[in-house]
Amino acid sequence: MSKKVSRRKFLTYMLGGTAGFLGAGLLFPMVRFAVDPVLKKGGKVEFVDVNLPVSEITETPRAVEFKIFRKDGWYQSEDGETMTAWVMKDPRQELGIVAFSPICKHLGCTVDWESNPQFKNEFFCPCHFGRYTKDGINVPGTPPTAPLDKYELQVKDGRLLIGPIAQA
Ligand code: FES
Repeated sequence: MSKKVSRRKFLTYMLGGTAGFLGAGLLFPMVRFAVDPVLKKGGKVEFVDVNLPVSEITETPRAVEFKIFRKDGWYQSEDGETMTAWVMKDPRQELGIVAFSPICKHLGCTVDWESNPQFKNEFFCPCHFGRYTKDGINVPGTPPTAPLDKYELQVKDGRLLIGPIAQA
């Protein structure tokens, strides 16, 4: 039993297939760019010396800025991207230090330490009044539904190195 495909159907399939192929070609780089490898858990990111002796890290969260230089195929960023981490002592962590990402887990605004005088000893997100405890845990009843991400850390020659976001 042979099935004949009409000329109209054949052209429809051909055009649909070509459009799909071209669409996928355009979409893939956009999606890839949007899903930044730096922010992806376990992404391939070099550890960066943030010029901070571990002896200077205290129990009070401190905003530490550092630059990362991403290489994406043939493209190498020259100026680097400035990142921030909230760094503090935490004896429960492997290195006795913790570094939180400042990216709010609600809609991605930037959290700050004790920036709202009403909420002492907490990280605060001004966008929708998101709150996190000093441990980076989201306060129930506020918009964020997950704790702040943590960076992977290393210590070399007494200085702190910050890497990618740690796997949960
Ligand atoms: S983005 Fe932080 S509370 Fe909404």
